[in-house]
Amino acid sequence: MHRTRVQLGERSYDVVVGRGSLRELAGLVPADAKRVAIVTQNGVPVDVAPHLPTHVATSRHIVGESEDDKSLATIERLCEEFASVGLTRQDLVLGVGGGMVTDIAGFAAASWHRGVRVAHVSTTLVGMIDAAIGGKTGVNLRSGKNLVGAFWQPCGVVCDTALLDSLPEREQRCGRGEMAKYHFLTGDDLLALDLDERVARCVQIKADIVGNDERESGRRAVLNYGHTLGHALEIATDFALAHGEAVAVGMMFAAHLARALGRIDDARVELHRRVIQQHYGLSVSVPSGIDRQRLVDLMHSDKKAIDGLTFVLDGPRGIEVVRGVEASALEAAFTAVSVP
Ligand code: GLY
Repeated sequence: MHRTRVQLGERSYDVVVGRGSLRELAGLVPADAKRVAIVTQNGVPVDVAPHLPTHVATSRHIVGESEDDKSLATIERLCEEFASVGLTRQDLVLGVGGGMVTDIAGFAAASWHRGVRVAHVSTTLVGMIDAAIGGKTGVNLRSGKNLVGAFWQPCGVVCDTALLDSLPEREQRCGRGEMAKYHFLTGDDLLALDLDERVARCVQIKADIVGNDERESGRRAVLNYGHTLGHALEIATDFALAHGEAVAVGMMFAAHLARALGRIDDARVELHRRVIQQHYGLSVSVPSGIDRQRLVDLMHSDKKAIDGLTFVLDGPRGIEVVRGVEASALEAAFTAVSVP
């Protein structure tokens, strides 16, 4: 079992990783909580009830599975349900599921009674290595992904890697997209580790970054490597391209953009292709039928576009945020990832 502390002063918490780590869940429930509101989805393959302290009452709150369900309407419904079961300030919201569930559960917890405690049982690879860690919560608007939310740290996270045994290949692939991101941030070959160590190492990388920049006023933004185009691709494909797949293409695009801006050389671009495509097994091309201008427009409406287009790009000092990238600089990168 691996236990990683996310160091955030009074908001510090443990992330427990390993096969069978659901056994640790009871220890993460605050002693004074009398009720646990479990936010989950139908089909999430885990029953947490046997792992909760016997003295707590539980209620189940189901969220839908489509990206459209990641909405303020869902938050309102959950809060009405919390009211109907009498969830108090001392109680706990427990997100049980992948990144969509923990983002929603976290934001509902941040909003209910102006903030109640939340813990997560993450059930997907993307969730375990990224979404459930670090306190970013939120929902989508029609204008873009995750535009409304809060930084709301959990009081504990369980990543039971036995749950990954039944994870569909596509979800595994999405996890490898985020893993490739950590590979570029640290140089670590994560696939060289066994599964528990691999997940624990990713958690440690993220915990270190979040511990130094909880609210993304600086370094945390590197966790968005590949995400500027990635988010645009998710929306442009109506989520046919899943998050980790879109991030993989986004990182390849970012490498070509960094090359066009003279920040890296051809060998480094080729390294990106080898790592993303050959090593982590992800596509590096944009699916056909997507319009370049539509992607530019979507990137402009992304919340990270403060001053011109903002990208996270590789360069001589490593991966860092680059603001004010002119749209004209994108042409070569679009061509390289096959956007006509
Ligand atoms: N997923 C990026 C972050 O948590 O900052």
